[in-house]
Amino acid sequence: MINFKELAQEYKTPLYIYDLDYMTAQYNELKQAFKGRKSILAYAVKANSNLSVIKHFADLGSGADCVSIGEVRRAILAGIPAYRIIFSGVGKNDDEIREAIQKDILYINVESEAELKRVELIAKELDTICRISVRVNPNIDPKTHPYISTGLHGNKFGVDINSAKRMYILAKNSKNLDPVGIHFHIGSQLTELEPIYEAAAIVADMLRSLEAIDIELKFFDVGGGLGIKYNDEITIKPYDYAQAVLSALKGLDLTVICEPGRFLTANAGYFVTKVLYEKKNEQKRFVVVDGAMNDLLRPALYDAYHKIEAITESDSKLSKADIVGPVCESGDFFAKDYPLVDLQPNDLLVIHSAGAYGFGMGSNYNTRGRSAELALKGGEARLIRKRETFEDLIALEKDFLD
Ligand code: LLP
Repeated sequence: MINFKELAQEYKTPLYIYDLDYMTAQYNELKQAFKGRKSILAYAVKANSNLSVIKHFADLGSGADCVSIGEVRRAILAGIPAYRIIFSGVGKNDDEIREAIQKDILYINVESEAELKRVELIAKELDTICRISVRVNPNIDPKTHPYISTGLHGNKFGVDINSAKRMYILAKNSKNLDPVGIHFHIGSQLTELEPIYEAAAIVADMLRSLEAIDIELKFFDVGGGLGIKYNDEITIKPYDYAQAVLSALKGLDLTVICEPGRFLTANAGYFVTKVLYEKKNEQKRFVVVDGAMNDLLRPALYDAYHKIEAITESDSKLSKADIVGPVCESGDFFAKDYPLVDLQPNDLLVIHSAGAYGFGMGSNYNTRGRSAELALKGGEARLIRKRETFEDLIALEKDFLD
């Protein structure tokens, strides 16, 4: 049991808290599901890019899935070896590509023919060979929120099968490219197995057709996407997930790479915010808290549900309330019509499942400093990011005042 009250008193609010032991358990369960196969779990750094969180995964033997050179640098700084780092993303610029090649990461995951040619050119300039994989878009509906669905031809990610084949042939014939992997990622917060199996089967068929023309790859990268329980979702068991992927791979001897983000961190994280006031009008009850959409954007952006727990002495009846922050936007809410007891100033609300896409999607909107981040491990609490101050916020501007 986490003593939120004590931690909030000591570290103030709003506050992110991450249970690293929970992350370890999730990592081990997924790794174990791929037992008997060569596999790499490449933690999707975007889910929670705090250096101490990445280091925690590095210590567990994880790789990293990165989508900017900033994330690659974070991963290396946190101790993930370059040979377990993958660099994906639809729009890498030349400097990013160059640095990734120089850092000798496992491979660059290429998302268009134009990008492949760019990578080839830069590798040639550097007089080296760049390992690549191609992100294939299998045109499968992952049955998740449209904003986090990525494997349909209407999405900007990856290339269709025919373009991918052309790209592999180009790479194979190039002196500066070495095609080593194939990648797909159909979406995030997946709760159905069928689309994963279908996508894996399409991509595995493609692998077989590449083998037939002497293009032998080493890595089969199934992306991330494993869903978690925010509310009452029925989630996929890691074992069943691994079986679905492995059954598509029958007869093929490759290292499976999986890029989980949310599965490893979401339910390890809590966002703790303090009640400032209650206010009511004839239609609505509002609970105004000190955290806001600049701290945790998911409800505003996706209408996402997060379970909310009240830490209070109150034992009144439940009534529905909108939980809102101080930011000047009607979209600044954590929940609408959420059943809560009557609350007093300084009571706490703990927003669950906040360990993934929480802090990282935050901003300084309304000149609000970002929250502090805290890690719990073996019962010990440790600050892993200081609360931002006003000075931090203006540091890059103040010298330009005339
Ligand atoms: N690999 C690739 C290529 C990805 O694009 C993503 C996530 C992942 C791995 C990790 O996916 P995960 O295992 O976490 O589902 N901000 C949204 C989620 C965006 C996910 C983007 N890509 C949210 O708050 O739900």
